[in-house]
Amino acid sequence: MNAALIGLQWGDEGKGKLIDSLMDSFDVVCRYQGGANAGHTVIHDQNKIPLHLIPSGIFHPDKLCIIGNGVVIDINQLMKEIKKLKEMNIDFKDRLFISKRTHLILPSHFTQEKEMKEEIGTTGRGIGPAYADKMRRKGIRMGDIFSLDYLKSFDLPSSFIQTLKIFRENYGHFITDTVILLHNLLKEKKRILFEGAQGALLDIDFGTYPYVTSSNPTPGGILTGTGTPLNSISRIIGVMKAYTTRVGKGPFPTEMDEKTQKAVRDLGKEYGTTTGRPRRCGWLDLVGIKYTTRITGTTEIALTKIDTLDGFPEIKIANKYNIDGEETDQFPSEVWKLEKVNPIYKSVPGWDSTKGIKSYKDLPRETKIFIRYIEDFVGIKVRIISTGRKRGDLICV
Ligand code: IMP
Repeated sequence: MNAALIGLQWGDEGKGKLIDSLMDSFDVVCRYQGGANAGHTVIHDQNKIPLHLIPSGIFHPDKLCIIGNGVVIDINQLMKEIKKLKEMNIDFKDRLFISKRTHLILPSHFTQEKEMKEEIGTTGRGIGPAYADKMRRKGIRMGDIFSLDYLKSFDLPSSFIQTLKIFRENYGHFITDTVILLHNLLKEKKRILFEGAQGALLDIDFGTYPYVTSSNPTPGGILTGTGTPLNSISRIIGVMKAYTTRVGKGPFPTEMDEKTQKAVRDLGKEYGTTTGRPRRCGWLDLVGIKYTTRITGTTEIALTKIDTLDGFPEIKIANKYNIDGEETDQFPSEVWKLEKVNPIYKSVPGWDSTKGIKSYKDLPRETKIFIRYIEDFVGIKVRIISTGRKRGDLICV
C-alpha cells in the first residue's frame, strides 16, 4: 500500500526519524514539495548527516529515492549532498532520480529572498521567489540544463551557468522523467512512501497565511508535485508532536511562557536543522490538529516526542479558542483573528518517563490517558508513538 507522511503542525514533527523507521515497509520514497528549507539529520554509522533535498531513504540499500517535480532545487546544495554521500561510499548510482520538471533556485532568488526573510522569517533558501517565478512562468527546470542555447535566453551569471555545466556532466544521469518512472513503479506494485516537508499549518493555501511556506505540504501537493494519480494513495500518516513548535514569525495560539519554552526547547533539542534557529514552543493545539487531520485526510496519527514531556507535572491541551469573547472549535483562516486567539486549555496529569519504551502496555497510565484524549478529540487512532531519538524508540499499535 502506498502512503504519505505529512506534518500536522508547523513542520519539525519528527518526520525524518519516522521515514527512516518505516522504510522497511516501502520500496520507494518520494519528495513532492519544498526544497532545502526542509531538513533532517540522519544518524548513519555514528555520523550525523543533515539532508535537505535527498530523501533519507538513500541510506537504505535497494530503496529508490525520487525528487518529484514539485520540489525546488538549490543545485549547489544538491551537489554538496551528493558529494557527501559519495565520500561515505553510499552506492546510489541507480537509486536517485530527479524530475526533469523540477524548478531551479536561481541566484536572483537568493537576492530577492533577503527582503522577505525579515518579513516572514523564512529560512533564506530562495524558496518563495523560486515558486513565484514558477507561477510567473519565468522559471528554469532541471531538464533545461541540457540546452545551453535555451539557457542563454535567461540573464544568468556565468558562474551559475558553469555550475549547471558541472552538475550536468557529473550528475546529469540522475535527471529523468519521474512521471514515467513513478507510473512504472505503480504498475509493478512497488510500495511508495511520499515524504512531506514542512507541515499543514505552513501550507500556502491552508496554513497561517502569509506566515507560510510557498508550497503545498498537504496531499494536493503530491498530485501536482509528482504526477501520481489521486486514487493510488490510501494511507495518510499525519505526524504530530505531543506539543507544538514553530520557527520564524506568525501567529502561534498556544505559545508557552518563556520559562516553559526554554525547558521544552532544551529537552526536545528544538533548534532548526536548516537554520539553527531556536524554535518557538507551545502546548498541544487540538483545534489546529483537528483542522489539519481533516484537510490532509489523515487515516492514522504518528505521535512523536512524548518523552520530551517526561517529568512535567501537568500537561496542557488546547481544545477550544476564545476570540474576542466568542468561543469556537474551528481554526480561523485569517491571520488577524489567529493573533487574537486565547486558547482554552484542558489540563491532564503528566507522567514520569516514557523514554525508550517500545510497547504500548508499558506506557504510564497518564500517557495512555493523554493519547486517548487526542484520539477521541480528533476521531483518529494513534498508530505510531515515538519515545526517543533512536530508531528503535518506537511503538506501533
Ligand atoms: P520558507 O519556506 O523558507 O519560505 O519559510 C517560510 C516559513 O516556513 C518560515 O516561517 C520558516 O521558518 C518556515 N519553514 C520552512 N521550512 C520549514 C521546516 O522544514 N520546518 C519548520 N519550519 C519551516
